Amino acid sequence: MRVLGIDTSCDETSVALLEDRTILESVVVGQTSLHQPYGGVVPEIAARAHVERMIPALDKALAAGTPDLIAVTNRPGLIGPLLVGLSAAKSLAFARNLPIVGVHHLEAHVAAAYLLDPPPAPPFLALIASGGHTLLYEVPKRGTYRRLGTTIDDAAGECFDKIAAMLGLPYPGGPSVQRAAKQGDRKAFDLPRPLMRDKSDDFSFSGLKTAVLYKVKGPNVGRRGPDLKDVPVADLAASAQEAIADVLTFKAVRACKRRGIERLVLGGGVAANTRLRELTASRAAEAGIEVFIPPPALCTDNAAMIAARGRELYDEGVRSDLQLDADPYAE
Ligand code: KG4
Ligand code: ZN
Repeated sequence: MRVLGIDTSCDETSVALLEDRTILESVVVGQTSLHQPYGGVVPEIAARAHVERMIPALDKALAAGTPDLIAVTNRPGLIGPLLVGLSAAKSLAFARNLPIVGVHHLEAHVAAAYLLDPPPAPPFLALIASGGHTLLYEVPKRGTYRRLGTTIDDAAGECFDKIAAMLGLPYPGGPSVQRAAKQGDRKAFDLPRPLMRDKSDDFSFSGLKTAVLYKVKGPNVGRRGPDLKDVPVADLAASAQEAIADVLTFKAVRACKRRGIERLVLGGGVAANTRLRELTASRAAEAGIEVFIPPPALCTDNAAMIAARGRELYDEGVRSDLQLDADPYAE
């Protein structure tokens, strides 16, 4: 069975064709240069860019084969961008008389791990850290996604992006912080690990962001324009990256141990971070937990994961119809 996946939830126009667990084509067209001048994604610009890029992306994926099912992200995400992907999916489903299923973007980040060989077998926990979300899911059986914890303020990716901006590093922030951190000492600054010892499975990153702000601005906090020439950018980047990776891995591994769960999945854009991947692997190994982390291209936004989750829903008998609507704030 071939599934066409479509994702336009944020700033990547993604279309993929999946045959069972094999990716026949995966098109991801980014928009970084369009948003870079603003230091973040501008929803209107993103939606317009999706409109321009959707047909060529669809043509490319459809050249790889004929789909039997269409899976499209309809929640959560930016409303304008979501509607572009949804309209394309519904038009194609109508024209070709194909079944269509609406997919939850974050559940799809978990389902990206099903494209690994071997895939993780439930029960497992999944830590999904992206630009807008930081979630710990329990997957007790195939197709069931139960939320154990979330961030009570900023998402981990947002924290990377904001710290990058404070350090004068280019958007998108995660990869820039990672690059700068390579030259830095991760022990240089003792930054806070909010909620790390808290008994809940929730996360918090705004205090870390503020701590970095104070290190950058010193006594000038509250005034405009940091003077970055005296700021140890690489050391701060390395120390902040370490704090984020420390909290995420500590809490994810602890959650597994508490429940006696022996498998941990990582996903979302932040899971592309090499230090996070490294620290997860070593801490999980120490605890006897098997780790499943998709390659970076399947951690950041892509449509192969949408097709993977769509296939799972289809197998469970779930079908959407042409009334399918976008739900930007879906939990
Ligand atoms: O999952 P994703 O591609 O899009 C959303 O659904 O949000 O995640 C994007 C986020 C951004 O905050 C970006 O800075 C972060 O993932 N990110 C990284 C890395 N690559 C992307 N964060 C840390 N290290 C990276 N290498
Ligand atoms: Zn995402």
